[in-house]
Amino acid sequence: MLMKIELDSPLDMHLHLRDGNMMRLVAPLSARYFSGAVIMPNLVPPVNSLEKLLAYKQRLTEALYSYDFHLYMTLFFQNYTEEELLRARSHIIGIKLYPAGVTTNSANGVANILQAETTLKIMEELAIPLLVHGETHGFVMDREQEFLDIYRDLAIRFPKLKISMEHITTAAALKLLDEFENLYATVTLQHLLITLDDVAGGLLRPHLFCKPIAKRPEDRDALQQAALSGHPKLMFGSDSAPHPVHAKEACGCAAGVFTAPIALPMLAELFERHHALDHLQAFISDNAHRIYGLPRQAKTVSLIRQEMTIPQKYAGFGERVVPMNAKQTISWSYED
Ligand code: NCD
Ligand code: ZN
Repeated sequence: MLMKIELDSPLDMHLHLRDGNMMRLVAPLSARYFSGAVIMPNLVPPVNSLEKLLAYKQRLTEALYSYDFHLYMTLFFQNYTEEELLRARSHIIGIKLYPAGVTTNSANGVANILQAETTLKIMEELAIPLLVHGETHGFVMDREQEFLDIYRDLAIRFPKLKISMEHITTAAALKLLDEFENLYATVTLQHLLITLDDVAGGLLRPHLFCKPIAKRPEDRDALQQAALSGHPKLMFGSDSAPHPVHAKEACGCAAGVFTAPIALPMLAELFERHHALDHLQAFISDNAHRIYGLPRQAKTVSLIRQEMTIPQKYAGFGERVVPMNAKQTISWSYED
């Protein structure tokens, strides 16, 4: 008999849906397979006011057709007044902080974390979670590790602030989760599967290049172990970050890996290989629902153990985007 698993309300806790035609292409590809997602605010210009956020949410809603898909919106971190945050509170799941210049469209990010103090205090009082792209401007392999002191400092100074370390890539970041009650983390598909060797150890693979860069085998293995065991503070966040094919296959490749439409079958393959399918539901849904206190969307996504070949590209609305592991065959697929 065909092996089948039913995932209850799968969530993608870190997703880039872009804007314009790219949004029209990729938004339905997530909406089809997830019950909701945390939408990143790094548009140009960034989503840094309630007005911009509501207008963006409206454009997203139009791009989703009739899919039942919950948009958990985020604001781009800057200094906000208490009044602004009070107005925004019911429309957002959290605020995303980017250190200035560390990744795609983060030029308007925070130059000095000390200047964020007042807003962080208000967020703590209003129970608005903080999502962080935790990288310094140091050597590329050390950027996350160097940022851990800042996480520590934030966790201590704002003990009631819920802090999500986004797309963690190191064993050291995982360890920090156990030290502070108010720290949580997301991890991507690519960081569970690949190391720097896959990106640049042989031929250069632009479609595996993202920020933070994939790290060492021992980091990947530690992340895998945590996800496969259903670590209660770890959530799936794809960081699916589409760029047009010409921006990836270029001299000066944009950072971002596109995984949204293939993430769930690839996770099923990984979890099955490690005899951990029992923990997939926690990783892709239950942990996030519990951590953020989210209502269930009553959407089920069924996967079957049947081979699927990952498309060479996804195209539409004049855009073309290449997914991770394009043209490779995996052992799980969607039921419909
Ligand atoms: C993201 C993007 O392209 O927006 N890129 C990436 O490499 N992950 C930005 C981000 O999340 O850092
Ligand atoms: Zn991201």
